[in-house]
Amino acid sequence: MPDQPPNPSEKQTLAQQRRQNWEKRWSDEKCAAFWLDDKLPAEIQMFIDENWFDPGKTVLDIGCGRGEVAFGLASIGMKATGIDFSKSAIKRAKDLYCKPDLDLEFFCLDICRKKGFDIGPFDFLVDRGCLHVIPDQRHAVFVKNITTLIHENGKFLLLHKNPKQQKETTASYLADKLTPWFKLENVRNFEFGHGAEKLPGLALEFIRTHHA
Ligand SMILES: C[S@@+](CC[C@H](N)C(=O)[O-])C[C@H]1O[C@@H](n2cnc3c(N)ncnc32)[C@H](O)[C@@H]1O
Repeated sequence: MPDQPPNPSEKQTLAQQRRQNWEKRWSDEKCAAFWLDDKLPAEIQMFIDENWFDPGKTVLDIGCGRGEVAFGLASIGMKATGIDFSKSAIKRAKDLYCKPDLDLEFFCLDICRKKGFDIGPFDFLVDRGCLHVIPDQRHAVFVKNITTLIHENGKFLLLHKNPKQQKETTASYLADKLTPWFKLENVRNFEFGHGAEKLPGLALEFIRTHHA
């Protein structure tokens, strides 16, 4: 029998399961993964060193996990916000990184939620490994939501897996989803992770185009 698309209640269950899986992962004190480090990821440091980010501006880290990226950006003087749909991740991010001298906050929010957001809009968005764990059928709502979370001409850095190392194919697949709300300005290769285990990734730099 051919595969049937999930009915709406099954879809809801799958979405809940995915969230529970992340919740379980982040509630484990010893949570480890090749992409997870207590240092700022090298690719984010590279963009900081190139002055791609602007200290003093606002930035939203989508699917922030334990908060290293948002913390790193707050540490260069950005007004940083991290969101993740895992309560445990957000608790750990707050416990680890919310310090009085930093402009940094974290909220438990699903980037694919149907109702709007009462945060933002932001000057910058960064997504390191969130869109690439969200199933295809939720990408449209992800895109719709991020269009409301960024200012016109704001910059969006998307760090996405590229396991087959097909730079052009992966970039145009992702750019198609974000067009016409975002314009792809630049793409380059990088590697997720540290140590022996690494995953090829693409860093895609988008600009939010004029509002319709
Ligand atoms: C591969 S991890 C990356 C975490 C973090 N960005 C980092 O670089 O360490 C993906 C993260 O996306 C979060 N996530 C997945 N789906 C999400 C959604 N719909 N809304 C918000 N966060 C989500 C997960 O809880 C997880 O923390």
